[in-house]
Amino acid sequence: MKLLSYRVATVAIGWLNKLVGGDSTPPKPAGKPAPGTATSRPAPRDALADSMAPAPDAMRALFAQSLGDQNEPLAMPTPFDLIIAGLTLHAGVKQSPDAAALLTLLGGGPASVIRQLPAAAQASLALCDDPNITRRELAEKLAEDPALVQALLRTANSAAFGSGKTSVLAIAPALDRIGIAGVRSIIFANSIDGVLSRPGGEFNAMVSEVWNHMVRTAPIARALAPAFGADPDEAFSIALLHDVGKLVIFDRISVLRSQLRRDAQLAPAFVSAVLDELHQPLGAFAASEWNMGEAASRAIGEHHRRSSDGRPNVLGEVVYVAEAADHAHRRGKPLDLRVVWFDGRINADLDRVVAVLRNLDIPLNLG
Ligand SMILES: [Fe+2]
Ligand SMILES: [Fe+2]
Repeated sequence: MKLLSYRVATVAIGWLNKLVGGDSTPPKPAGKPAPGTATSRPAPRDALADSMAPAPDAMRALFAQSLGDQNEPLAMPTPFDLIIAGLTLHAGVKQSPDAAALLTLLGGGPASVIRQLPAAAQASLALCDDPNITRRELAEKLAEDPALVQALLRTANSAAFGSGKTSVLAIAPALDRIGIAGVRSIIFANSIDGVLSRPGGEFNAMVSEVWNHMVRTAPIARALAPAFGADPDEAFSIALLHDVGKLVIFDRISVLRSQLRRDAQLAPAFVSAVLDELHQPLGAFAASEWNMGEAASRAIGEHHRRSSDGRPNVLGEVVYVAEAADHAHRRGKPLDLRVVWFDGRINADLDRVVAVLRNLDIPLNLG
């Protein structure tokens, strides 16, 4: 199962790169480690992924087997299909028919899995892109949505944007402070929170934790971006939604609950495996469906840095370090930057990143 997961992940990343406009060149070797980083540390995920070429026939057979009919002629499954097929072998599926039903829902393809953003959100996003509209007109339009106003003011007065500044209480100065890119990301986050359903029960706490983690990671990414040569507003926007694929999965669990008319019975280990293996490709799908741009799709789809198509992906690097910093801060455990640099194949200037993280009170272990 583990070998299968690594192989499937390798295929999936290649497919994901095609989705977001990349080529199919093989992954580059691990990047330059940070000064003082142990070069002998094994990189198990990438090493395994690199050593195993995709085996289409075996995958196709597995896919057919997962559907229970090996005689039926099948089209070549997509790599996303293969991840789903791999997950059907998880022990949690044997324990619960609900788990198999969830995989069927998730395997329906992007069109059925990713919800469309509401028309009001699409209109607000279009306004942000309209070069003929004045800042004042934009503020007046956005002010028609009370939930959006609340979110914009909260962001403008947050530590990331409002630290040391006077509070803003109106939409126009909030817009000035956050900028158009920031406003766009708040519109996205606000509408996604509204359109994706919560699955109820203990899963709701997990949904809240995903949101809280993304909201905490976004300003860290914004602060780190210059050290990576990335745009701070873009880094903020992408980090704010980097785990949106998990919300898409929870949304499907809510659909399953509606179908079953009771809470879904899913083993925690199965839910963890589904979240771990599917949230990156689903997040990239969602970013693409919601027209967030290729850079967002690619960074969200590769933010765990498990593979690479050889092209630079500085936004993916920023999110990788920012979320590791958030986890370290939350757990109160020092962040081992040598490990982060090695595992994430980070190319940024270590000293600049250390200075930013120290400024944010992130505990560090520099060896
Ligand atoms: Fe994350
Ligand atoms: Fe993630």
